Amino acid sequence: MTVHFIGAGPGAADLITLRGRDLIAACPVCLYAGSLVPRALLAHCPPGAKIVNTAPLSLDAIIDEIAQAHAAGHDVARLHSGDLSVWSAMGEQLRRLRALNIPYDVTPGVPSFAAAAAALGAELTLPGIAQSVVLTRTSGRASSMPEGEALENFARTGAVLAIHLSVHVLENVITTLTPHYGPDCPVAVVWRASWPDQRIVRATLATLETAVGAEMERTALILVGHSLGAEDFDDSRLYAGDYDRRYRPVGTAPRFPETA
Ligand SMILES: C[S@@+](CC[C@H](N)C(=O)[O-])C[C@H]1O[C@@H](n2cnc3c(N)ncnc32)[C@H](O)[C@@H]1O
Repeated sequence: MTVHFIGAGPGAADLITLRGRDLIAACPVCLYAGSLVPRALLAHCPPGAKIVNTAPLSLDAIIDEIAQAHAAGHDVARLHSGDLSVWSAMGEQLRRLRALNIPYDVTPGVPSFAAAAAALGAELTLPGIAQSVVLTRTSGRASSMPEGEALENFARTGAVLAIHLSVHVLENVITTLTPHYGPDCPVAVVWRASWPDQRIVRATLATLETAVGAEMERTALILVGHSLGAEDFDDSRLYAGDYDRRYRPVGTAPRFPETA
C-alpha cells in the first residue's frame, strides 16, 4: 500500500501529468484538497472509489482516512493543487506517515506561477533583465513569514516576484515594492490561471490597484518584474551563431554525428 501525493495542477483538468492521472485511476481511495483541485480530475477515479474532500477535515482526520486505507491495503491518491513543493501542507502529512511507517511517493504538478506565466505568454527570465524568479507570499492568518523573508528583502534584489496568497493585501504589496522597482514597473495579476474563467490584468505598479477589481480575490497570483512585457533585451547566447556548444560546436564536425 502506498499513498501517492499528486500535484493536480493549477486548475485546467488536462494540466496534470500522465503519471498523476494513471495513479488516480489505479487507487481505490482518493483524497483531494477541495478548495482548488478541479472536480473533473475525479472522473479518473476507478468505479466505486472512495472519494473524500479534505477541505473540511483536520490533519488528524486526514491521517485517520489514510490509516484506514493502509489497514485495508488500499492505495491512496492524495491530490493537492499546483505542485506539492510549495504551500501544499504536504510536509506535515509526510511527517505523520513516516511516524506511522506508511509508504508514500510524490508526483509533481504544474505550479500556478508557471500557469500564470503561460497565460501571459511570458518568459520571466530574459537575458540582461531578470535571471531569478522568487516564489513568495505575504504573512497570512495560518502562516507568518520567517524573519529575513520580508517582501522588501526580495524586492531589493530586483528579481521577478511571483507573489502568492496576497491579492487581498495588494495595496501593501504595491507600497512595499514601488521604491525598489519604480512606479512604471510592469505587473500582472492572473486570477484562476488555466481555469475557464481565467482573468488577466496587466498594469504598472502605479496603476495596478485601480485596474484590479474586487472580484479578483483569493486564487490570484501577482507577478512583478521588468521582464514582463519587455521587448528591449538581448538574444540569449544559446542560439547565437558564434557560440560554441556541445551539440553545435563552431568550426568542427558535429560531436554527435547522425548515425544510420
Ligand atoms: C495554497 S497556495 C497553493 C500553491 C500551489 N501548490 C502551486 O503550486 O502553485 C494557493 C495560492 O496559489 C496561487 N494559485 C493557485 N492556483 C492558482 C491559479 N490557478 N491561478 C492563480 N493563482 C493560483 C494563489 O496565489 C493562491 O492564493
